[in-house]
Amino acid sequence: MEKKMKVILDVDTGTDDAVAIMAAVKHPDMELLAVCSVAGNKPVENTTENTLRVLQALGSDVPVYRGCAEPLVKSITPTRIPDHGGTMAVVDGKEYHVHPEYLDLPASERSHEDMPAPMFYVDYLRHAKEPVTIIAVGPLTNLAVALLMDHDIVKNISRIVIMGGGFMCANRSPVAEFNIWADPDAAQWVIHCGADILMVPLDATVKTAFTKADAEDFRSLGTFCGDFCADLIDLRIDADRAINPECPDNNTAIHDALAVVAALDASVLRDVERVRCDIGLADFAEGATLITRSKEFLTSGFVKNVDFAFSADKEAYKSRLMELFS
Ligand code: BDR
Ligand code: CA
Repeated sequence: MEKKMKVILDVDTGTDDAVAIMAAVKHPDMELLAVCSVAGNKPVENTTENTLRVLQALGSDVPVYRGCAEPLVKSITPTRIPDHGGTMAVVDGKEYHVHPEYLDLPASERSHEDMPAPMFYVDYLRHAKEPVTIIAVGPLTNLAVALLMDHDIVKNISRIVIMGGGFMCANRSPVAEFNIWADPDAAQWVIHCGADILMVPLDATVKTAFTKADAEDFRSLGTFCGDFCADLIDLRIDADRAINPECPDNNTAIHDALAVVAALDASVLRDVERVRCDIGLADFAEGATLITRSKEFLTSGFVKNVDFAFSADKEAYKSRLMELFS
């Protein structure tokens, strides 16, 4: 029997994070060791509670470690203040949120573990008997802090799969994707930590955007995961229509679950290339995904550091998710 992939998931739950958690819990070839929460889509209190709610709905007792409430340095530099508010609009007195304050699930009956998430990473990875895959689908603060505490933990990380960044796409500033923009300094630490890194950026996730018809396919599975995934797709499309009434997309990328599926099945990704990637840390380029285009700069001191998915296969992704949720 093939060994299961040992996984730690890092989330800022979040609508699409919720689908990622369901995919990881339901994946027959993954052993989910822990889920770490972080501030991002919402403050860390909310992302932690939302994470616990999703796990409870799945009947999972996987431990949840509460992570960092603030980015590494961004919140102490007055011109770089992050926002944990999320996008919203009010139409006819009704509020529409891409990420509601709390997911519409029963409140969690258990709490997160005592140990903060970065300490958990250090403690677990120092003593890990087998290498672990980390799938990070929120800002990268927890991992950056853990690496700063003990860089040796890299030797027990088999791969870090990151949902974040964008080469031709951006969603939080004209040049930046949200997870990277929310803590650019952490992202720059993590992508240069020496671990094997797979980046699943917006360029890939937007190719897999789901419509309301796709939501109905998930709903037709007749399972909790199928129904909840469908509800979240509908909620995100409705929120987008309310927020961008002049040019609604009428579809929505469930970004974070693509990273979970891709961790074990790279065939859902397309055009994966090894590149040199850095993160813009200031001014107009803050949080931008910078890819070195010219070979002459790729010297021995400036090497390629990540596998970057420039595209993805929507139908392959949808059918894997449907299998997991059926
Ligand atoms: C990423 O930003 C968050 O809002 C989503 O949960 C996803 O992780 C997409 O840019
Ligand atoms: Ca997320």
